[in-house]
Amino acid sequence: MSFEPVLTKNVGVKDSQKLSVYVERGGYSSLPKAFAMKPDELTDLVKASGLRGRGGAGFSAGMKWTFLPKDHPGPIYMAVNFDESEPGTFKDRYLCDHDPHQILEGIIVSSYATRATVAYIFIRGEFHLQAKILQKAVDEAYEAGYFGKNIQGSGYDLECYVHRGAGAYICGEETGMLEALEGKRGWPRIKPPFPAIEGAFGKPTVVNNVETLCCVPHIIHNGADWFTSIGTEKSAGPKLYGISGHVNKPGVYELPLGVTCRDLIEKYAGGMRNGKKCKGAIPGGVSMGVLHADELDCPLDFDGPGQRGCMGLGTAGVIVMDEDTCMVSALRNIVHFFKHESCGQCTPCREGSGWMLKTLDRILAGEGKKDDLDNMIELCDAQGSMPGKTICGLADGTAWAAKNFIQKYREEFEAKIESASAVAV
Ligand SMILES: Cc1cc2nc3c(=O)[nH]c(=O)nc-3n(C[C@H](O)[C@H](O)[C@H](O)COP(=O)(O)O)c2cc1C
Ligand code: SF4
Repeated sequence: MSFEPVLTKNVGVKDSQKLSVYVERGGYSSLPKAFAMKPDELTDLVKASGLRGRGGAGFSAGMKWTFLPKDHPGPIYMAVNFDESEPGTFKDRYLCDHDPHQILEGIIVSSYATRATVAYIFIRGEFHLQAKILQKAVDEAYEAGYFGKNIQGSGYDLECYVHRGAGAYICGEETGMLEALEGKRGWPRIKPPFPAIEGAFGKPTVVNNVETLCCVPHIIHNGADWFTSIGTEKSAGPKLYGISGHVNKPGVYELPLGVTCRDLIEKYAGGMRNGKKCKGAIPGGVSMGVLHADELDCPLDFDGPGQRGCMGLGTAGVIVMDEDTCMVSALRNIVHFFKHESCGQCTPCREGSGWMLKTLDRILAGEGKKDDLDNMIELCDAQGSMPGKTICGLADGTAWAAKNFIQKYREEFEAKIESASAVAV
């Protein structure tokens, strides 16, 4: 399969972070094309391209933009989600490290399409280096007239601010992010109202992921048909797959949506480390569940993982585990993460994750009980008390991971319970 990189085409180019290099390589040239169109035409183009959000939920970007109120007196805000805290996910950081101006170009044309006049880039608190890279790029872009008043003589004004988070996973949830942006504790809001109606500072706000926005200039350049010709029918376009864990060549690989998990591991990531067998792979950040070794032919598009019991593709941050991995410990690590990151507003999330962590610790200490697994499944099932009953999706992610691991590796969990000699981690 021949595939020309789109989003990563400047990776490896000397000084790719600099504006001059970016412009030399065709950067910012989608702006005149975009400004020659009406904002609604641009939104229609993005809708027709089938671009779906790359932040985890896979919602149609163009469709989301149409939810903004028409004829609003403004201001309308663009909130760029660069929180990237999902374990196993490092694609947005990669885009920033190698091509920060591509992100800014995406922000400008998408803000124009949505009539936003202020863009906030909410960047994960731990990304110290990336915050510097991004701020430098924003400063350069201002100097060159890509931000500010009357951008490139178009009559369009856009201000852009880099806002650093303080380091909490929950600030990646879009309304938690908006609260944090307003200077408050990053507690997710009850929806509706959705951000498109009432977002940052009570105003209509577009929330999009960094990678989603990076796709937009390419769609403007090459058209909706070009975008839909890449990937699968319902999952159009190129995608950054981050792969980590027990493979020979972990890293970020740009491929058409729909590559199988097996090909990603074997063809791109250099196969399993030390010649071991694969036991399973998390398809897109730890909240999505797990693909069993029998399911590695799963296409990593927006539908494949969901058809195999996972929550979805998520961020396409794939974590590969070899045959020596203890799946009980792996799940324990995931649940520990979610318990630590739960903001505590919803009882099922706050108490459920804590209870599950205690149960898994007990199992690992050789003190598991026969009913533990069924009790955990009951908590995590659609009918149980965790998924679908809380303010945000963090509880769903916890439940999904737990249910998947227990159901797909039940024998291993049972063996731990039956073995009195199990050692605590
Ligand atoms: C607990 C939680 C954490 C999230 N973290 C991120 C994140 O770090 N980055 C991101 O883009 N989206 C994250 N999301 C998804 C956002 O809420 C939102 O759907 C996304 O930013 C929308 O952008 P998109 O439509 O371009 O994907 C998270 C969602 C949840 C429930
Ligand atoms: S589900 Fe969890 S993280 Fe989300 S709002 Fe409720 S308590 Fe907070």
